[in-house]
Amino acid sequence: MKAVAWTRYGKPADALEIVDAPKPIPGPNEVLIRVHSRTVTAGDARLRGFRIPVGFWLPTRLVFGLFRPRRKIPGMDFSGEVEALGKEVKSFTVGDRVFGTAGMRFGAHAEYLCLPEKAVFIEKPDEIDHDAAAAAIFGGQTAIHFLKKKARLEPGQKILVNGASGAVGTAAIQLAKYLGAEVTAVCSTGNIELVKSLGADKAIDYTRENVEASEETYDFVLDTVGNMPLSRCRGLLKEKGQLISIASGLFANLSAIWNKQLISGVAGESKAHLELLEKLIAGGDMKPVIDRIYPLEKIVEAHEYVDEGHKKGNVIVSVVG
Ligand SMILES: NC(=O)c1ccc[n+]([C@@H]2O[C@H](COP(=O)([O-])OP(=O)(O)OC[C@H]3O[C@@H](n4cnc5c(N)ncnc54)[C@H](OP(=O)(O)O)[C@@H]3O)[C@@H](O)[C@H]2O)c1
Repeated sequence: MKAVAWTRYGKPADALEIVDAPKPIPGPNEVLIRVHSRTVTAGDARLRGFRIPVGFWLPTRLVFGLFRPRRKIPGMDFSGEVEALGKEVKSFTVGDRVFGTAGMRFGAHAEYLCLPEKAVFIEKPDEIDHDAAAAAIFGGQTAIHFLKKKARLEPGQKILVNGASGAVGTAAIQLAKYLGAEVTAVCSTGNIELVKSLGADKAIDYTRENVEASEETYDFVLDTVGNMPLSRCRGLLKEKGQLISIASGLFANLSAIWNKQLISGVAGESKAHLELLEKLIAGGDMKPVIDRIYPLEKIVEAHEYVDEGHKKGNVIVSVVG
C-alpha cells in the first residue's frame, strides 16, 4: 500500500516521503480500515517539526521518540470503510463506513489502517462525505473537551474565540452556539464572513482592531493561537472569567495558573465525543470546514500549507490516485 513515511523531525520535505509499505493484517481484536480521507492538523505539523511549547518539549519527545519519530507512519484523524475484521470483532461489519482517530497510534496517512475494535472510531454520519467526516474530528474533539467538559459552557455565557477561523476555532464557534453561548470571533479580514456564517454573533478583525481595547467582558477567552496570555486578556475577562489556553506552554500562563483562571492541558478523545459530534452533524449544528484537499502524494505540500498557520478550518488528504 501507499503510505507516508515519517523518518525524522524537521521541515516537511526532510521529514516525509511516500513509500510502499506492507498492508496491515488485523489481529483477532482489530479492524482493517481502507482510509478515504485524513487530515493534516496543526498538531500533526507541530509534532513533525517538533515545535512544542517550552515545558512540554522533553515529555513529548520521550513519548514520541527522542531523536526520531517512534511511529513510522504519521496521521491521526480519518474517515474510511471497514475492509476486514479480526475473528473476535463484534461491533463492526465489513463495509461499515467509519470515522475517528488513531490518536497516538498514528498510521492514518496510508491507504490502510489497522485499529483495535475499542479504539476511538464509530460509524460515520450519513449526512456528510468522508472528507467532511475526517475534517470534523480534530477541532470537534478539542472543542468538546475544552468548552463542554472542562469549561462547562452554559447558555447565556459569553466567549471570545481567538483564532476563530482555524480547525479548533470553527468547531468551537459552532459548539458554543449549540450550547447556547454568545460568541465573539477574532480573525483576519478575509475570514469575517466565514465565522459569521458559522454562527458567531460578533467578529473582531485583529488586523484592524485592537482586541484588548474591546469594552466587552467574557466568561471565557479561548486562545487557539498562543498569543493571548492572561496579561493580554485580563481586561476581557469577567471577575470569575477563565482563559482557555490550548496553544501555549505553561510558562506563558503562570499568572493565570496563580489566579486560578486557567483551563489548559491536552484534549482527550473518546467514542463519546465522536457520538456527540455525530449527533451535532446529523442535526445540522456542526458543519466541518474544509480549506484544501490534497492527494496523498502531495503530503509535503499539505504540511507546508498547514505550517503557514492560516488555514481556514481543515486540510484534507484524500484517497490515493
Ligand atoms: N491543547 C490541545 O489539546 C490542543 C488541541 C488541538 C489543537 N491545539 C493547538 O491549537 C492550535 C490551533 O489549532 P488549529 O487546528 O485551530 O490551527 P489552525 O487551523 O492552523 O488555525 C490557526 C488560526 O489562527 C489564526 N491566526 C493566526 N495568527 C493570528 C493572530 N495573530 N490573531 C488571531 N488569529 C490568528 C489563523 O487565522 P487567520 O488566517 O485569520 O490569521 C488560523 O485560522 C495549534 O497550535 C494546535 O497545536 C491544542
